[in-house]
Amino acid sequence: MKRVIIPKAGSSSVLALKEFPSLEVGPGEVRISVKASGLNFADIMARQGLYQDAPGFPFTAGYEVSGVIDSIGDGVEEKWLGKPVMALTRFGGHASQVVVSLNQIFEKPGRLSYAQAAAIPVNYLTAWQALVICGALQPEDTVLIHNVGGGVGLAALDIAQHIGATTIGTASPGKHEYLLSRGLNYAIDYRNSDWYTELMHLTDGKGAELILDPLGGESWRKSYKALRASGRLAMFGISAASGNGIGSKLALAKTAVMMPIFHPISLMNENKSVFGINMGRLWHEPEKIRVWMGKIIAGVEEGWINPTIAESFSFEDAALAHDYIESRANIGKVVLTP
Ligand SMILES: NC(=O)c1ccc[n+]([C@@H]2O[C@H](COP(=O)([O-])OP(=O)(O)OC[C@H]3O[C@@H](n4cnc5c(N)ncnc54)[C@H](OP(=O)(O)O)[C@@H]3O)[C@@H](O)[C@H]2O)c1
Repeated sequence: MKRVIIPKAGSSSVLALKEFPSLEVGPGEVRISVKASGLNFADIMARQGLYQDAPGFPFTAGYEVSGVIDSIGDGVEEKWLGKPVMALTRFGGHASQVVVSLNQIFEKPGRLSYAQAAAIPVNYLTAWQALVICGALQPEDTVLIHNVGGGVGLAALDIAQHIGATTIGTASPGKHEYLLSRGLNYAIDYRNSDWYTELMHLTDGKGAELILDPLGGESWRKSYKALRASGRLAMFGISAASGNGIGSKLALAKTAVMMPIFHPISLMNENKSVFGINMGRLWHEPEKIRVWMGKIIAGVEEGWINPTIAESFSFEDAALAHDYIESRANIGKVVLTP
């Protein structure tokens, strides 16, 4: 079996593909012959040395895969053997084989390709928690989705549209035509204009009821300010800190310094809520994840969840895949294939 290894922090050039012996399954575990692995922004930041939860170097990144179960451990029902599945992985997903416990796998919906199935777990669970569970998005609400053209962004757009909310999104201008064709109500070019001014213009000065903000630092301050009364701010990433070498250290320091502090009395008086999401720290809640995933899979079957694949790269070209996301070129999910 092969794995994409991150031997040390650095640019995408540090990535290496290495051979390892086949994995053995233990009791209650299954082995997946991987067809596609999701590449997430957290994997990029882990390679940059900016992801606090990453294992020590060298390690293999990757939070999700799709594939076929080719070996089962003691205590696992025979019916799983040969089944197409998607799975959450606690790192190690950028590999041609993974071994996971039963509570990390979900049957692959027949209507999805393996690439699309690898695009489901992280992006859609994050978006589900942000919009439905914590964000309580209502049909009459306006939601602002930052970086709406990315993996989580398009997942959030699917769900927000199903709820019936008004959708406003920020993205690089080259993505707007596609996003509007996908049903986004308003696209804001946040790279060349002030998104706050545009949001206020679009909402008659009221702001949005829900804002999904994975940028962090100063952006969280501005997003909080842009909430309408009863509004909720979802904080779930620090993309603003992304970078390589000395530039990344400065970006990280700036992002940290600009983090807002929310006072309970201000939250109360302004009728605003803030919440955080870290999917990588929900491993102790498999029942919750299974319920959320059940709703997402139902959405796939009903046709309102449609994962968008930006590009698929072979493991050999993992560095190009990292560069592609870092250059902000992706519309939707980037996957790696063994
Ligand atoms: N907390 C969690 O559990 C969790 C789970 C999943 C994802 N996340 C976070 O959600 C965000 C999106 O993740 P994703 O995997 O779906 O990635 P993604 O959105 O597909 O990531 C790439 C996009 O992010 C935007 N971006 C903003 N700042 C950037 C920068 N400094 N460098 C490069 N691109 C930048 C770019 O789009 P524009 O055209 O809009 O600039 C780019 O195309 C990340 O911050 C990630 O860490 C958090």
